[in-house]
Amino acid sequence: MTKATPLYQTYNRAPLRFERGEGVWLVTESGERYLDFAAGVAVNSLGHAHPHLVEALKAQAEKLWHVSNLYDVPGQETLGRRLTEATFADRVFFTNSGAEALECAIKTARRYHFTKGHPEKFHIITMEGAFHGRTIATIAAGGQEKYLEGFGPKAPGFDQVPFGDIDAVKATISDATAAILVEPVQGEGGIRAIPVEMLRELRAICDEHDLLLILDEVQSGVGRTGKFFAHEWAGITPDIMAVAKGIGGGFPLGACLATEEASIGMKAGTHGSTYGGNPLAMAVGNAVLDVVLADGFLDQVRDVALVFRQGLASLQDRFPDVIAEIRGEGLMLGIKAKGPNTDLLMAMRDQHLLGVPAGDNVIRLLPPLVTTAEEARDGLRRIELAAEKVREKAAAIA
Ligand SMILES: Cc1ncc(COP(=O)(O)O)c(C=O)c1O
Repeated sequence: MTKATPLYQTYNRAPLRFERGEGVWLVTESGERYLDFAAGVAVNSLGHAHPHLVEALKAQAEKLWHVSNLYDVPGQETLGRRLTEATFADRVFFTNSGAEALECAIKTARRYHFTKGHPEKFHIITMEGAFHGRTIATIAAGGQEKYLEGFGPKAPGFDQVPFGDIDAVKATISDATAAILVEPVQGEGGIRAIPVEMLRELRAICDEHDLLLILDEVQSGVGRTGKFFAHEWAGITPDIMAVAKGIGGGFPLGACLATEEASIGMKAGTHGSTYGGNPLAMAVGNAVLDVVLADGFLDQVRDVALVFRQGLASLQDRFPDVIAEIRGEGLMLGIKAKGPNTDLLMAMRDQHLLGVPAGDNVIRLLPPLVTTAEEARDGLRRIELAAEKVREKAAAIA
């Protein structure tokens, strides 16, 4: 007898099989088209099969795939320089995923204090509802019991405070504290933004106590909120930042960015990755930045986001029994449902619109950054139809 599937059963997958993608659309094996406002969970920043990305990957694939970090990889220098020129950072370490970018960020912060003669400073303060990845350290940083259970003792050195509780942050700081780590906008946690004043306060607290501010912009970065990085809305800069998802547009790519000062401990031999910064990933990352950093691109993202956001707000007015709240910034938006979020999500899927479930009964809407106003309105019509169905179903039960 053959086994049902050879795969780990770690995912509850939707019964959909996509064969190809075209811009904001995904097409199933049977030719049905879905408007993809999940974008691979904020990964397909430029939609599917973007010609510039396809061309960059093809051209690199014909030249060189991999050489390891034993040699110079020119694409790393180029992408690194572009990232440092466009941000607060002086140094970049390339990874293959978000969790690895966070691992690098955590190591960088601990090593900073170690190098300054304070090896005892290795604790990092994080916030409830956070999601930083699925490695042993990042599940400890995220602090969510559902991800920690059964994997042995929680890795030491992560102190969690209630979301947005500045007094708790202050009370938790001790001689062992190295850094504060937050997502400017929690993604998995339910599109919960840290208010800009609070981000500024966290910056000030870090300065006062010689702590490093680490931002996890894995989901909120690379144009997602209408700025290159979400922290720009607050006018502050971190010391260290984790980036992934959108930077690769679908190719596995992440990066840890840091100031010269914060990265002082990361000398030769302290960290490494076989694939990180691989020529294929660098070709795609550079191609993504060609588009995202082009004049006017982020203005367009903000314009479309406004159309979408206003449309969602008016749907909330019309369906207060279905939609409790609209949250988020730019094209990182959330609908907090009145009933179970999965009911609305399923109803949206029935209308061939894809979103992503999140904590706090929220549905994330993360359209590709290339979504046009017309495509946003198409999405709104589908959400409207889905909300009508949810309402009808509730009325039928009552
Ligand atoms: C904010 C944030 N940090 C880290 C991660 C982990 O990234 P990856 O799944 O690429 O390891 C995610 C993934 O969803 C994320 O949203």
